Amino acid sequence: MTDQAHRLRRLAELAGRSTLALAAGSEGHENHDNADAARVCSDTGKLKGTRVVAITSGKGGVGKTNIAVNLAIALSQAGMRVMIVDADLGLANIDVLLGLYPRFNLGHVVSGQKSLKDVMIDGPEGIRIIPGACGLRNMAQMEPDRRHALLTELVSLDALSDMLLIDTGAGLSSNVMDFVVSADETIIVTTPEPTAIADAYAMTKVIAQVNSDAYVRLLVNQARSELEADQVAEQITSVARRFLNVHVDRLGYVFVDVAVQRAVRAQKPFLLLYPHSSAAECVKALADRMLTGRPMRVSSGGAAGFVRRVLASVGRRYDG
Ligand SMILES: Nc1ncnc2c1ncn2[C@@H]1O[C@H](COP(=O)(O)OP(=O)(O)O)[C@@H](O)[C@H]1O
Ligand SMILES: [Mg+2]
Repeated sequence: MTDQAHRLRRLAELAGRSTLALAAGSEGHENHDNADAARVCSDTGKLKGTRVVAITSGKGGVGKTNIAVNLAIALSQAGMRVMIVDADLGLANIDVLLGLYPRFNLGHVVSGQKSLKDVMIDGPEGIRIIPGACGLRNMAQMEPDRRHALLTELVSLDALSDMLLIDTGAGLSSNVMDFVVSADETIIVTTPEPTAIADAYAMTKVIAQVNSDAYVRLLVNQARSELEADQVAEQITSVARRFLNVHVDRLGYVFVDVAVQRAVRAQKPFLLLYPHSSAAECVKALADRMLTGRPMRVSSGGAAGFVRRVLASVGRRYDG
C-alpha cells in the first residue's frame, strides 16, 4: 500500500510538471526549442511528417522491446518506412535483441561528434534503428546550435520515414513520460499479471492528466487465450472510462509463445525466425490494425515536432 501511495504521489508530481512543460510548448513561449523548430519548419515549409508512436508500459519486462522490433518489421513488410528509437535509458537492448553492435548512439549526435545518419543502423526488412540510450540523458544540456542542427536533421528524417516507434523504458519516471506525452500516440503494453494491469492503469491515468486528448491504445502481451486478453483489456478500458473519463483503444493482443523466448535467445526477431508462430500472427494483425485504424496524416510536426516537445519537457525540468 505504501508503494501505491508513493506511486500516486509520483503521479501527481509528474502530471503537474509535465503539464507546465507542455503548456509552455503549446502556448509558444519563446524558448530555444520552439524558436529552433519554428526556424527549421519555416526553412523547409514542412510541418507534417512521420507518425510518432511511443511503446511503453507501467511494469518492466512485459515485452515492449520484442513488440517494438517485431511490429516494426511487420509494418515494414506492409510497405511502411519504419524507424525505431531505443529510448529505454536503463535497459536499452534493441541491438542485443537483433544481434547488432552499433558503434555510436544518440549521445554522439548530442555531443556533435556524429550526425543522425551516421548513428542510424539498418535492421532486418529495411527497418532503421537509432540507438538512443545514454545520449538522451544529455539532451537537456545541448548547445542551441547543436539542437538546431539536430532538428534540421530530424526534418529530413521526417521525409524518409512514415512511422517512428519509440521503445521507452517502463514506469512513470520523467524520462519515460517525456517521450510518452510528446508522441502522437501511445501503445501501453501490459500482461495479464495483476501488477502489470495496475501499472498500466496508473500509466493511463498520468497520460490522461497531462493530455486529455492523448491517443492511448492498449496491447495485452503474453495472453494465454483471446478470452483472457479480452478480460484484461476490458478491465483497464472500463475503469479508465468510468474513473478517468478516458477512452483507451484496444489495439489487440499477442499470445504467450515459446517462439518468442527462442527467438530472443537466437537474437533474431520471432517474426522472421518463426513467421507462422502464434506470436508472429498476432503481431501481423496488430500491424494491420495500426494501418487501418486511424488516418495516416498527423499534424503535430512529425519527428521534429516530437523532439521539440521532448526537449521542452526536459529543459523545463532542468530549469525548474
Ligand atoms: N509473447 C510472449 N511470449 C513469451 N514470452 C515473451 C513474450 N513477450 C515477451 N516475452 C518474454 O519477456 C522477456 C522480456 O521482453 P522484452 O521485450 O525485453 O520486455 P521489455 O522491453 O518490456 O522489458 C523476453 O525476453 C521474453 O522472454
Ligand atoms: Mg525493453
